[in-house]
Amino acid sequence: MYKPKKIGVMGAGYVGLIKAVGFAEIKNKVICYDIDSIKIEKLKKGFLPIYEENLQLLLDSNLKEKNLIFTDSIKDVVENSEYLFIAVGTPSNEDGTANLEYLFNCLKDIARYMNNYKIIIIKSTVLPGTCKKASDYLKNQLELYGKNIDFDVVSNPEFLREGNAIYDFFYPDRIIIGTDNERARLAMKDLYKFFIDKDFPVLFTNHESSELIKLSSNAFLATKISFINELSRISEKVGANIKDISKGMGLDKRIGEKFLEAGPGYGGSCFPKDTKALYYFAKENNITLKIVESAIKTNEDQIKYSVSKIIKAMSPIEGKTLTVLGLTFKPNTDDIRESPSIYIIKELIAAKAIIQAYCFKGIPKARSFFVGEKNIKFCEDVYDSLKDSEACIIATDWQQFKNIDFDMMQQLMKENNLFDLRNIYYDNPRVKEMFNYFGLGVKTKVSEVFI
Ligand code: UDX
Ligand code: UDX
Repeated sequence: MYKPKKIGVMGAGYVGLIKAVGFAEIKNKVICYDIDSIKIEKLKKGFLPIYEENLQLLLDSNLKEKNLIFTDSIKDVVENSEYLFIAVGTPSNEDGTANLEYLFNCLKDIARYMNNYKIIIIKSTVLPGTCKKASDYLKNQLELYGKNIDFDVVSNPEFLREGNAIYDFFYPDRIIIGTDNERARLAMKDLYKFFIDKDFPVLFTNHESSELIKLSSNAFLATKISFINELSRISEKVGANIKDISKGMGLDKRIGEKFLEAGPGYGGSCFPKDTKALYYFAKENNITLKIVESAIKTNEDQIKYSVSKIIKAMSPIEGKTLTVLGLTFKPNTDDIRESPSIYIIKELIAAKAIIQAYCFKGIPKARSFFVGEKNIKFCEDVYDSLKDSEACIIATDWQQFKNIDFDMMQQLMKENNLFDLRNIYYDNPRVKEMFNYFGLGVKTKVSEVFI
């Protein structure tokens, strides 16, 4: 029988909030903390700071059930939890290394309010060796407070995908737990009993392996994307179709079809940050991860390549009005962190183009990147963004963009250039008839495939 746990979550972001709501949903008592008091006040009233499908539903029901409370008091969250997740930001420093300052600030505050044995669970993506350092640091801080209180530090990296986060919480591919003693291992087994009883894979490793599994998984996925992005350029040269190449490669079960779609480059708060963190961490240990280094460089090249295609085809671009559809780094999220769309727009504005942008969820967060910029207009809807436009750029593959009224689109636009950086229309012959179509690695007509 699962005994409800007292769980604290520090950091009510894209990761922490999902963990808080998810663990509350499976009948634990969860207290979720964030340094941002405004964010906490909004959450107490049921207002989400982020968009994630089904999150509102779960937030409302767990607030109502009183399984979940929010606080901006570190004292509250520390004193009222036996399991304490740390999911605060671990952003990149200027030089690409990981910034763990927020994590260690949390540990200092935990020591200050520590009142009994706790399991400190590091959910944030961290470098190998961080759990060990965290444990030593917390021990030292407790001594400074004259506290002789026992604890364990555990690594429990997060693998949720934005836009699928709630699903990924309840149906994880795997749960990775790094511990260094049996007591911690048993406590974590108890915490994850809900998942173990449903036969979800739970892998127990040491701290360092768990930390490295997370960074390596993201680096590998990013490498897969950079691999296919590089091939998209060869495809354009030889008149091949990158979508067929993805399909043909992906039918090999050892390769798999996922994360093999060419695009303007990967974005988000994870791949760009985690690939660099891993690369620079290795460098500090006198190891050069050449494959990861190439994945990073290729990603930077791919975004620049996407922009150059547009500038070249629209030359002279100065004064031309261009539509950009999609601001988020991927569909079904409001997150614009490291989104290629933002970089592409900045480069086009620098080339003196005039931008009319639309996105289903990304506009509110994108505005902060263009404060005072007069050459960008954030539009009401897709058709508003197409008015008098000389080119339409598909920068994020929101499925809704596939069902645009193309007749209306053609009427509204001044010229019919269409840069499909996500190849969402690659198999739509009508679009290729109606528009001057530029795919990314797709020039030929679609081949047939029988699967
Ligand atoms: C974060 C980390 O960035 C990522 O590396 C890790 O894998 C999971 O946690 P995410 O949830 O996307 O990812 O970050 P973000 O949405 O920025 O949320 C971090 C939250 O921590 C923010 O709400 C921020 O206000 C809060 N925070 C940050 C604190 O509560 N205290 C701090 O000292 C710093
Ligand atoms: C990723 C990992 O998938 C997840 O396991 C980890 O916990 C956090 O980082 P996320 O960043 O939410 O998740 O997005 P993801 O779906 O992985 O896409 C990342 C970027 O790669 C997006 O910009 C997306 O557009 C791009 N991408 C993805 C491609 O360009 N091609 C693909 O085939 C897949």
